[in-house]
Parts: sequence; C-alpha cells; structure tokens
Amino acid sequence: MIVDEHISGYLDSLAKDLPESLSRLESEALSTGVPIIRRGMQRLLRFLLLKEKPEAILEIGTAVGFSTLFIYEYAPACAHITTVEKVEMRLKKARKNLEGYERISLIEEDATVALKKMAESGKIYDLVFLDAAKGQYTVWLEPILGLIRPGGILVTDNVLLEGSIARSKFSIERRDRTIHKRMREYLYMVTHDERLETVILPVGDGAAVSVRK
Ligand SMILES: C[S@@+](CC[C@H](N)C(=O)[O-])C[C@H]1O[C@@H](n2cnc3c(N)ncnc32)[C@H](O)[C@@H]1O
Repeated sequence: MIVDEHISGYLDSLAKDLPESLSRLESEALSTGVPIIRRGMQRLLRFLLLKEKPEAILEIGTAVGFSTLFIYEYAPACAHITTVEKVEMRLKKARKNLEGYERISLIEEDATVALKKMAESGKIYDLVFLDAAKGQYTVWLEPILGLIRPGGILVTDNVLLEGSIARSKFSIERRDRTIHKRMREYLYMVTHDERLETVILPVGDGAAVSVRK
C-alpha cells in the first residue's frame, strides 16, 4: 500500500459506483486472484478517458478483460480498443468476457511480437495503457512511443511496486531485485526522454502518466 490505508479507503468511499456488470467482473477477478486495476487507477483512467476522449486505444495486458471493459465503458462511443494478452489461462476468460464487442479487438500474442506488427502496419493510438510484465516495460517503451500520436497519452500501471521502488536495492529481496532495477530504469526513461512529459502518481500501485510531445 503506497498511500495510508485511511486515506485510500476514504478516497475509495468517494468514488462513483461501477456499473453492475463491471462490479460483478471486478469481484469475480478479485476472488479468483486475477490481478486487475485498483480503484485508484480506475478513477485516473476514467478521468483521462472522459477528458481526452481517445478514439484509438491500445492496452497491453488484458488478463480477463476487466480493464478493457472498464475503458470501453468510459471511452467515447466510437472508440476502438485493441488489447493484447498471451497467457492461455487468462485468454480463456478474456475471450468469453469480450465476445460480441465489435469495437474491441483481442490480440492473442506476446506483446513484443504484437507491438512489432503494429509498428509495421503504421497504426497510431491516442492512448496506450501498459499493464503487463513489468520487467518488459523498458523493452516495450520504444515501440510504444512509435505508436502514440503527438499529444497522445501513455498510462503505465504498477510503477511504484507497492512502494518498494523508493527503497535501496540492498533492502530488496534478492528475487525482486531484477524487477526493482528494471522499473527504476523505466521510470528514469519516461521522466528523461525528450519525447515525453511524465508525471508519476501514487495512485493504485503507482501510475506513470506520460504525454507524447
Ligand atoms: C496485471 S494483469 C492485467 C490486468 C488487466 N489490465 C486488468 O486490470 O483487468 C497483466 C497481464 O499481462 C499479461 N502479460 C504478461 N506478459 C505479457 C506479454 N509479454 N504479452 C502479453 N501479455 C502479457 C499477463 O498474462 C497478465 O494477464
């Protein structure tokens, strides 16, 4: 927990209710251990979607489709969402949950491969939501930058690693050191790249919101 539980609980209490279908999917995901966007990230995404009105949206990391359907709910009625997932166990549920949505395309592939194909096809997005293997963010940043239009937004989830990102690497358990190092590299990249303006927010598990200049 990055923010004191009292504060995050209070902020959650101010949040508007989710539509019934999303609320059901959220409970189902949480009760079966599927990692989905937290309430803070939901509020941030909802705000950005309503403010920016992105029509072409790319999500990396579908899981069972909760955030995809959340984005669908608050994006403009004409928006198209492309979402990428590679793990069969997650895909089984995602296919079912996203079935029948004409404006959602589920790409069943490793994101590294999918991003390469998208770059080759010349596709451009207004908003990219990055929420997959944290260790790959540094590798995916360059291809993603090529896919965002100037003025477009990149939202990255889980960047504060439950707050451990701010701790010295020597106090991090050996098994978590690689991810700690890579996420620090990623945050350095998004805050120092001349093509981006980035703000890092203690929202959910940490959100980096970057504007493509
Ligand atoms: C945190 S979950 C996504 C949660 C989802 N965005 C939500 O909030 O409902 C991360 C997902 O990324 C997927 N993933 C991890 N590495 C990936 C890769 N290289 N390519 C595609 N998907 C990947 C995982 O299988 C997992 O389902």
